Amino acid sequence: MKIDILTIFPEMFQNFLTQSIIKRAIEQRLVEVEIHNFRDYSKDPHHKVDDTPYGGGSGMVLMCQPIFDCLDKIRTKDSYVVMLTPDGTKYHQSIAYKLSEKKHLILMCGHYEGFDERIRSLVDLELSIGDYVLTGGELASMVVADSIIRLVPGVIKEDSHLQESFNDDLLDYPVYTKPAVFRGMKVPEVLLNGDHEKIAQYRREQQIKKTKEKRPDLLEK
Ligand code: ADE
Repeated sequence: MKIDILTIFPEMFQNFLTQSIIKRAIEQRLVEVEIHNFRDYSKDPHHKVDDTPYGGGSGMVLMCQPIFDCLDKIRTKDSYVVMLTPDGTKYHQSIAYKLSEKKHLILMCGHYEGFDERIRSLVDLELSIGDYVLTGGELASMVVADSIIRLVPGVIKEDSHLQESFNDDLLDYPVYTKPAVFRGMKVPEVLLNGDHEKIAQYRREQQIKKTKEKRPDLLEK
């Protein structure tokens, strides 16, 4: 899978791409990530990428030209273009699964007051990572890229996906490691006796209990 990210703040992605699981996925060539500064595509002598809104109003609006030219260069027949914007469809694990099957993803990060509306004509999907407004789409694109990359086959152990939060609309079950007693807090007995059927049953019950307590909205579905 190839992911191209369009931004005017490429440095923000430095740490994201060079740590932990994402770093390993890139080194193992399971995923290729390229950051594009769309300021580099500006035809303005001062590399301007934004301008004031027609009709007045506060703030600056990202212009069409640098983004259209950048897309003209990097888009192929396999590309799927996602725009990160607070007014997009609310992101969810089920969307992460769908996006992880794409051959080529282009993630576009917005800024300032927004994009020139005509930029939306380039886009296959508009995504919001939640009902709050960030200073730009960079953090949102990292959230989306991270959640997709970990689903690419080979990036993490396949069975890690089977029991994770939001599959079946249930949260994950609690896990413990050694020691069996820490500061008087005991690991549940059922996990210590090696009875796999009982352990599976206990974990399922815990998933339902935790979801009822923390995210009852998921159970209503
Ligand atoms: N840009 C600013 N806020 C955002 C959000 N909540 N989701 C995606 N992109 C954004």
